[in-house]
Order: sequence, then structure tokens, then C-alpha cells
Amino acid sequence: MDEAEINALAAYDAAHIIHPQFHAADHRDAVIYESGKGAILTDVHGKQYIDGLSSLWNVAAGHGRTELAEAAAKQMSQLAFSNSYTGYANVPSIRLTERLLGLVSPNMSGIFYANSGSEANDMAIKAVRYFWFLSGKPEKLKIISRADAYHGGTMAATAVTGMAPFHKGFGPEPPGFLQVPTCYPYRCQWCANKPSCSLDCADNIEATILREGADTVAAVIAEPVHGAGGVIPPDPGYWPRLREICDRYNVLLIADEVITGFGRTGRWFALEHWGVQADVVTFAKAVTSAYVPLSGFIVSKSIHDAILNGPAAAKFMIGCTNAAHPTACAVALRNLQIFDDEHLVERAEKMGRCLNEGMARLLEMPNVGNVRGLGLMAAVEVVADKASRQPFAPSDGIGPKLVRAMRERGVITRAKGESILFAPPLIITKDQIDTMMNVTAEAIDEVMASRG
Ligand SMILES: Cc1ncc(COP(=O)(O)O)c(C=O)c1O
Repeated sequence: MDEAEINALAAYDAAHIIHPQFHAADHRDAVIYESGKGAILTDVHGKQYIDGLSSLWNVAAGHGRTELAEAAAKQMSQLAFSNSYTGYANVPSIRLTERLLGLVSPNMSGIFYANSGSEANDMAIKAVRYFWFLSGKPEKLKIISRADAYHGGTMAATAVTGMAPFHKGFGPEPPGFLQVPTCYPYRCQWCANKPSCSLDCADNIEATILREGADTVAAVIAEPVHGAGGVIPPDPGYWPRLREICDRYNVLLIADEVITGFGRTGRWFALEHWGVQADVVTFAKAVTSAYVPLSGFIVSKSIHDAILNGPAAAKFMIGCTNAAHPTACAVALRNLQIFDDEHLVERAEKMGRCLNEGMARLLEMPNVGNVRGLGLMAAVEVVADKASRQPFAPSDGIGPKLVRAMRERGVITRAKGESILFAPPLIITKDQIDTMMNVTAEAIDEVMASRG
């Protein structure tokens, strides 16, 4: 592609595409990608980048997988799409369901398929409310979510998202959604300066349920490890305590495994780390390594039984045209086969250790306050003052500056505040991880030096 053609494309993009989380100033000098192979992306100028976030946490098996293109082509040639509404089904979605139920915790029984993580969460919220409605407790409808959560961009998924910028300008939001503090040991209001987590954050959820009245609370929704909110792994005691609290008050637990599902943390699903079973699990992203969109929610046997035995006068009226899309399901099956053949879940754990070793070296830098991660998802938090953990003022724009400095050096990532986020493809090599860490150190040095 010559420069004139590239410039024309860039100008048309800037003039006509409204990108997610948009502000025109942020879109200047946008990278236009043209191809990808493994953990490497190439832009229209031929510049190469390590895809430090698996694009959007999703290209888990890496770019350029012809096996997945072939699986899609085969299914498209045979049956690209067919109606999956009640009364109809297709072969790949039945096979995929069998596969997924073999991977998730054994209490799970039924799957609904959608297209995006947001839809999966919206519909999971409908599922828990519907469950209580069928159980004769329609007043159990409130949903508790946590600060720093990201659950998506549709209306209910936004209502459970715990970051202020996602709410600005979109009100009024639907009623019945409550937010509580999360488990963020480095910046915890209860235990940041104590040697270990006090689990006050979990107990605060209990207090919230009691304050609201357990008879009014349908579910708690949470990511096993926060993703977009800063890659924040919880204390190991957090999820078991949360499960106990939900059981005590008859409140359902929705685990949003949209990022953490399918190996990201070194387990098929992250809740395995703590031996916890949710009542509903949502998934998306890595189920197809993003080659085509697919998402869904999985419900426990008791919720599934309620749906199976629902009255004809109150059918479970959720749906989307592309539910159980045969091509998406065929690609997911082939993708999971790659996971098996190449031991990608085990690889995530092993490469996660390399990433953690690299980050431990960064922690020696004067402005690196905290490094954290689980498997192949991690964050490096840069601070103005290490001793007091004082953050930089948002107006300093440290996060965007770090992301740009890394991009110039050939590593693509994102920042939440001043935390640089990593979630590379599970096929990343040790050398590529070392390069990412070296680039991170150089970028931090450059941005800190530019402050004078
Ligand atoms: C944890 C989590 N849940 C839900 C979503 C929403 O998924 P989607 O963007 O596919 O709607 C995301 C997206 O990044 C996510 O990280």
C-alpha cells in the first residue's frame, strides 16, 4: 500500500468511524493494522508490534491461525447459519456445549449463546432475575457489582460496571443496581497497610446485602480477576468468602469470566484457583480466540432446572438472532482443539511465571509501586511516590504517555490510570516477554524523565 492510499484510509477512518470509548483527540495517529502472526501485529506501514494485550484480551491462540480460518470456511460452506431459536438446533453448537460443560465446574448444566461479553452479562442478569421470579421471589432483583469492574457496554452491563467514565452522559440508568468496594490489596481502604488482606471488602458485601435486605438481592456479579479495571487479582481468601456470603443469604453469584475464561490465568476458568463454583459463568473473547464473535452464559443445574420447568405462560423470552451461530461454534471447537494440542492453559501458567519474574525486576524502579498478576494477565502500577503510594494526578496523563512510549517501541498495551496492563497471546515466547518488559522499563524511564 502506498503512502497516498494509507493517508486516504486514515482520513476516511477519522472522518467516519465512531470507535469504542471515543474521543477524536485520542484517535489522532491511529495505528491501522494490516496483518498478524503469532503474538505479532503489523500495521499498514510494515511496522511490527508485540500484541501485549492479545488485542482486547481475546486473541488467545495468537494471530494468523489458518486452522481457524479453515474451520470457519468448512462450516460456512456446509451451513453458515441456521435458526437456533426454540424448536431448532445445529450440530456444532451441541458439540461445543458438551465441550464447555466438560471444562467448567461440575455444578453447571445449561448454556445460552450470544455474540459479545456485554450481551452475555445482560442476559445473565435477566437469567438470575427470571430464576427468582420463577421461584416465587420476584422482589429479589437487585444486582451488586464492584468498583473497578468492567462488564460491558450494553445498558445492564454498564449499570454493573464500576468505573465512573462509563456512566457519564448515559443516564438515567435502570434501577436496582448497587456498587461496593472491591478487593484491591495495594489500595484497599481497609487493609492496604497491613501485612495481609483482612477480607473486609468481602464482608462489606455481606453488610450491603443485610442493609438492602437479602429478600431484595438477586445476585452479586464479579470478575474473578479484574481486567480493564487494572488487572487486580484478589486475595486467595476472597472468592471462598464471597461464595459463603452468597450462600448464607440465598444470593446468586455470577462470575464474569469474559477475560479470565479459557486459560488466561493458567486454568480453564479462573475460579478453579480458589475451588469456588459460581451459579452463573459468563464467557466470550478467547472461546474463539476472537476469530469470530461468540459469547454466552452458563447456568448451574438448579437454575437450569427452573428454566427447563418454567411455565408456558412465562417463557424465558431472551434471544439474539445469532444465538448458537454454527460457524462461531465450529471455530470455538477448533480453537479449543488448538488449546489441547498445544497445552495452552499450562503454557499460560508457565509463561505467566516468566512475566512475573520480569515484573519483579521492574519493581526495583523508583516509580514502580506495585506489580501483580495471575497467569498471563498482569499489571505494572506506576506511582508518583513509592513510599506513600501517592498516584500521579490524572491530568498528568501518565498512563496514555506510557502506552504511547511503548507503542513507539513496538509493544501494544493499555493503561488503567497509571497501571500498564498485559495479557499477551498464550503462545507468546519468553523472548517476547523479555522484550515487553525491557520496553516497559524504557517507557517508564522516558516518561518519568520527561517530567523534569
Ligand atoms: C470482564 C469483561 N466482561 C464483559 C466485557 C464485555 O465484552 P464485549 O466487549 O464483548 O461486549 C468485557 C470486555 O472487555 C470484559 O472485559
